[in-house]
Amino acid sequence: MKISENLFQKYNVAVPRYTSYPPATSFHMGFNGDDFIEQIKLSNSAEPQNISVYIHIPFCTQRCHFCGCNTALSQSEDRIKRYIDAVIAEISHVAQFVDKKRLVTQVSWGGGTPNSIDLNYVREIMTALRSEFNFSDYAEIAMECSPAYLDFEDVDVLHQMGFNRISLGIQDFHQEVLDAINRRAPKHDVGEMLNYMKAKGFKGLNLDLVYGLPLQTLASFRENIQQIIELKPDRIATFSYAHIPWFNAAQKLLDKYAFPTPDEKLEMLVYAINELTANGYEVIGMDHFALRDDELAIAKQNGNLHRNFQGYNTKKTTGQVYAFGASGISQLNGCFAQNIKQYDTYIEAIEAGNLAIERGYVLSNEDTIIRDTINQIMCNGALDIEQMAAKFNCSVEDFLNITKFNTSKINTLMEDEFVELTDNKLTVTPEGMLIVRNVAVAFDPNFVSVTNKYSTTI
Ligand SMILES: C[S@@+](CC[C@H](N)C(=O)[O-])C[C@H]1O[C@@H](n2cnc3c(N)ncnc32)[C@H](O)[C@@H]1O
Ligand code: SF4
Repeated sequence: MKISENLFQKYNVAVPRYTSYPPATSFHMGFNGDDFIEQIKLSNSAEPQNISVYIHIPFCTQRCHFCGCNTALSQSEDRIKRYIDAVIAEISHVAQFVDKKRLVTQVSWGGGTPNSIDLNYVREIMTALRSEFNFSDYAEIAMECSPAYLDFEDVDVLHQMGFNRISLGIQDFHQEVLDAINRRAPKHDVGEMLNYMKAKGFKGLNLDLVYGLPLQTLASFRENIQQIIELKPDRIATFSYAHIPWFNAAQKLLDKYAFPTPDEKLEMLVYAINELTANGYEVIGMDHFALRDDELAIAKQNGNLHRNFQGYNTKKTTGQVYAFGASGISQLNGCFAQNIKQYDTYIEAIEAGNLAIERGYVLSNEDTIIRDTINQIMCNGALDIEQMAAKFNCSVEDFLNITKFNTSKINTLMEDEFVELTDNKLTVTPEGMLIVRNVAVAFDPNFVSVTNKYSTTI
């Protein structure tokens, strides 16, 4: 695949990222804990039957000034212990409504930095999960780790607890960039760490990079890509730096540094795509790459790729998501439910014996059709309109009315050979997958083009 910058210039318009449909901006405060319990009960007879669990640990030992995640500086042991107890209480509260015949096939730990807390706390939560739910033998158990605090012994402990997937946040390999964003370098050699994890049996090992950070130059970013190719992790995420100072005021501290220009960012992305695909990686989604024999790449080839707030995963292991901890978003077949973001307010709600739902959204039947259609396009780059209509017991005409899709919406994409549509079967070409948001938007009946509401494709 050889990608030109012109392609991105033409399609670099403001469209939703479709991390979820409807987007998180549609979640509302009218949805409360009782609504969530009703939806949990309904989820027991909905598909998929598998259970995915998300555990959010908001704490970080040091806060990086570029970060856009929901984090808090690590607190006293007492505070952390209260948080862990709250998560365990929340797990018991929710689990009582979940059918015990259903199996946990996926557990993802994110944050913040889950490996910044004492791993005995991780063990306590894993023990609670295993006593409240039944686990499948092939459950994927994953943790996002900061390499600044990860020791080889920690990998042993995680492995012994059943973890089999790890993602490391690298962001950039250059000390001056890390200094500018107030981030510590990996504690150990990343190559040795990856080899150690591989030897232990960890799979799907992922490294995160970010492009668009202060002091990054085209030359230094190219070095990052060459270095990551040498390390050869199973998966690579290259995120575009999201500047959201209204959410994270610390990003304002970066104003004093030189940033790559939008044109340079585009060149970085194009370089990453061309180099990674020339060196054994397949494009999974716009920011994500996987080695061709990785299970995500195989799932992509077989049309079995799925995506949720935790990232890309396979349809085999992805279940309805039950999230625990501050800011966690549950994704059940019929609803989205988000917990309170502030970790201390979250603790208070749980300690009072309640759930900690802040906002949510119940999907209508029509929302479900649009959600599954958009997911199918975003992940697998293919849509069989007749099959989708049959899945939801409606006619093709009804499907087209609900999604407000017509071919005029994708004429330009078809002329540019990014999409093919024959006999109600839509296929996105490998190059088209790089601008797949622009394809998905054609099936979103609620999309109104508004500048500044959505980020541009890059
Ligand atoms: C929870 S962190 C990963 C685990 C750990 N806390 C760490 O930093 O290594 C999730 C990832 O989100 C990405 N990220 C965070 N803030 C971002 C921003 N403002 N723009 C783009 N990506 C960002 C980074 O690549 C980061 O590795
Ligand atoms: S990038 Fe990771 S370590 Fe840094 S503040 Fe964000 S969550 Fe914490």
